[in-house]
Parts: sequence; structure tokens; C-alpha cells
Amino acid sequence: MTSDELRVRFLRYFQERNHTIRPSTSLVPTDDPTLLFTSAGMVPFKSYFLGQDKSLIRAVSCQRCFRTSDIEEVGKTNRHHTFFEMLGNFSFGDYFKEEAIAWAWEFLTKELALPGENFWISVYKDDDEAVRLWSKIGLRPERIVRLGEESNFWKMGEIGPCGPCSEILIDQGKDIGCGRSECSIECSCDRFLELWNLVFTQFDCQLDGELKPLPKPNIDTGMGLERLACVMQEKKSNFETDLLFPIIERIIQITRVEHKKDEKKDTALRIIADHIRSLVFLAYDRVYPENVGRGYVWRSVLRRASWQGRHHLKIQDPFLYQLVPVVINIFPSVEGLLHQREYISKIIHMEEERFIETLNLGEPLLCNRIRSSVNKGEKTLSGKDIFELYDTHGLPVELIKEVAREEGLSLDEEGFRREMELQQMRSRAFGTSFKSTVASSVQIPTYQTEFIGYEEFTAEAKIIAIIKDGLEKEKAKSGEEVEIILDKTPF
Ligand code: SER
Repeated sequence: MTSDELRVRFLRYFQERNHTIRPSTSLVPTDDPTLLFTSAGMVPFKSYFLGQDKSLIRAVSCQRCFRTSDIEEVGKTNRHHTFFEMLGNFSFGDYFKEEAIAWAWEFLTKELALPGENFWISVYKDDDEAVRLWSKIGLRPERIVRLGEESNFWKMGEIGPCGPCSEILIDQGKDIGCGRSECSIECSCDRFLELWNLVFTQFDCQLDGELKPLPKPNIDTGMGLERLACVMQEKKSNFETDLLFPIIERIIQITRVEHKKDEKKDTALRIIADHIRSLVFLAYDRVYPENVGRGYVWRSVLRRASWQGRHHLKIQDPFLYQLVPVVINIFPSVEGLLHQREYISKIIHMEEERFIETLNLGEPLLCNRIRSSVNKGEKTLSGKDIFELYDTHGLPVELIKEVAREEGLSLDEEGFRREMELQQMRSRAFGTSFKSTVASSVQIPTYQTEFIGYEEFTAEAKIIAIIKDGLEKEKAKSGEEVEIILDKTPF
């Protein structure tokens, strides 16, 4: 069953049960200053959950989502992503646990005919009602596992709608995952795949942590389309499904690497395939490379992907833009995506060119910094140094780590994390109010601007280029919005 068909089957199943189909919204949440990105299917429905909007009681969607919380796992496992689609059905003060559980089970085992004996269920430790409802459907007691807050109480960030949840996991068999005899649904390997999360949204978490009961309990469910496709297409990994494999094939074609010969290369292929989907859809939703907020995240994702290509697949030139057409082909039904093909390719191409220039400048700097640490007899590269190389000089952390380790230096990861947290706070604070323009993302790599900010705060400078919508112009009129490039600047 293709992914296109799975989307349709899911939406139709719940439409037949009186749910209104809602199209996917942007990856940039509208009117929600608490979030940088749409990270779950329920995000566009927050006002319904909170009882502020009462115009809808049941909805179903396939929402495009972006999360960076699992970015370190991406490519190393078969199932983690930064960009993914979430299938979800929602009840706003209407039906509750009983229907949510019964329909989820019926959809998987009847509509999709997946074998019921392969499923495992987790429930929140105190949720006797959920245990009773799963038993009523026919689940054997040993297949229903009670777990704690960590895995079975769903919250999105610090505040907002939340509640206990019940997960449906599928046992993919001993051949997938760690292979240990004691492997269970709590193991972090790929064997027990969490397919669907049913959240029983009963509370509105306040800033001080208080769980305020919502006027009426709600249902928020989320099932990863990539994971469902993996199971339905009988693949071992999400990256082998029709949602991702065509991208891997294209990377192989461009780089001529051999697939399934070297785990590092395969991991790089998966990371790039994941990241390019994020870059395309964030650009489609008007996120552009910038040094703060969402644009900063976009830029970091591009750098990670580009560096994987350079380091592991030995590709020196920009290549990510060449993957844009294949990503777009996978999503024929996304409105206006095809139309934006040239534009998205251009943004990605320019930014990658710029990054490669950064690397050409930054790599020697990194080597110097490491050499001087080694010469001084230091054993660790400080968190501040790592952060500066990463944030100011644009070097991916993986690159810094690998080079440092090769020279026998360990890394002050804790210090680096602290610096990152500070940066994220600055980034979040900015996320609510920033406005980006196409022009601000455009950099013309052939121009050289001398940075004089170490000595001067003000200076006289010459305009060496005027850019509008990515193109160079001879002049600009008063009141027109353009980018200017100066021969030198203290900024
Ligand atoms: N909000 C829940 C999740 O993201 C279920 O949709 O898992």
C-alpha cells in the first residue's frame, strides 16, 4: 500500500465516523508564540482543546511536523526523523477513551488487516480504565504494560493541553533491533515500533506546573505515517519506504557511493534523506536561513546534511539542491509545492555554497585551535570553544568532535550544552517577533566583505552590491526594500 493510499484510507476511515478532514497546516504555527514549529498533529487544534473555539468537535488530519528533539538519533535508527507526517484523529470534548481505543484497534487490525497478535500496548501506570478497555477488546493482560510519566504522560513543551497516554507498539520480530533475549517494549532499539499514541487530553498544564483539568476531556492521537508505511510496505526501516527511498537512490546516483557496504556511509545517506525533506518543507512554509529563530534551525539542518555529504560521501560541491525535485515528486498532492521548485532549489543551493565557503575558512581555524590546545597540554576542548566554532564559524558539531577526537582531545559536552541552551533561549525569545524576507536569505558568495568589528564600531563603507529578490540590481529607489553588500562592516 503506497503512502498516498495510507493517507487517504486513514482520513476516510475517520470521516466515516463523523470527523471533519482538516488539511495539514504550516510547519510554522500561526498565532502561537509558545512554539517555534508545528511538532505534532494537535498543534493547529490547541484552541479547540482549550475550549476557546467550539466550532468543531471531531477532526482528522495528516499533519506535516518538524521536531529537532530526536535529531541525534536520525539516521542511526530506522525510525527517527526531523520531518515527518502525523496521522491523527481528535475529539474536542466529544468522545473519549472507549471510542479512541476501539477505532484505533479496528483501523489497524481490520481496515489495514495487520495481525493483532503482533501488537503490544502501554498505558499510564494509574490508568485502570485504559487497561480495562484494552482488555475488553481482547488484548491479553501480558500485552498491556503499565509505564510511568516519562513515556506515558504526554506534554508538548512546558505548558498547554496534556494528559496520560496509551501507545500501540508493533513487534517487528527478533531480526530487527538489538537481538537481546530481554528486549522489550521499553528497549530503545527498533524491534518494538511505537506506531500510534493515543493521548487522553484532560489537563491544561500551567506555567507553575499545575495540571488544571480541562472543561471536557479530549482525544489527541498521533501515528507516524513513515512508520505505518514501513510496516505496511513490509520494510525494515522507514528509509526504505516510498516516502524516503527515492531520495536515497538519488543521493547514491549523485555521489556514486555503494549502498549497504559501509555503515557510516549508509547513516549519512539516511541523515541527508531526512534533512532534505525538512529543508524543502520549511522553505515551502517560508522559513529562510538566518542567524536566529527558525532560520537558525533551518541553517543548522542544512549544515548537518551538507557536512555528512562532504565528510562521509566525499562530495565537495553543493549537491543538496539536486535532491529537491525528487522530494517534490514524492508529494504530488501538496498544494503549490511543485510551483515553488525553482525557488526552494535556489535557496538551498545558495546556502550550501555559502556553507562550503565557511567550511573552507573554518576547517583550518579548527585545526589551529585543536593544535594549540594539544600544544598547551590540554586534554579537553572547552564548551565555549566548541560553541564558538559551531555558532560563529558555522562548523557542524560532528566535525568538531571527530577532528578533536582524532587528536586525542575529549570534549566539554556539558559546557557546550550550556552554551547551546543559552542560544536556544535567545532564539526562542526572538521566535515570536521575527519577520524574514527572501532577500535576507540571499548571499552572493563572490563578494568579499571585510569584517572590522574587532577594532571599530563605526566606519565609512562602499556599497558593492544591491540585491533584490535574490538578483543583483544597479540601483534602488527610496522606500524600496533591498539588501546591500558593503566592502567592509563592523556588524
Ligand atoms: N500529540 C501526541 C504525539 O505527538 C499524539 O498526537 O505523540
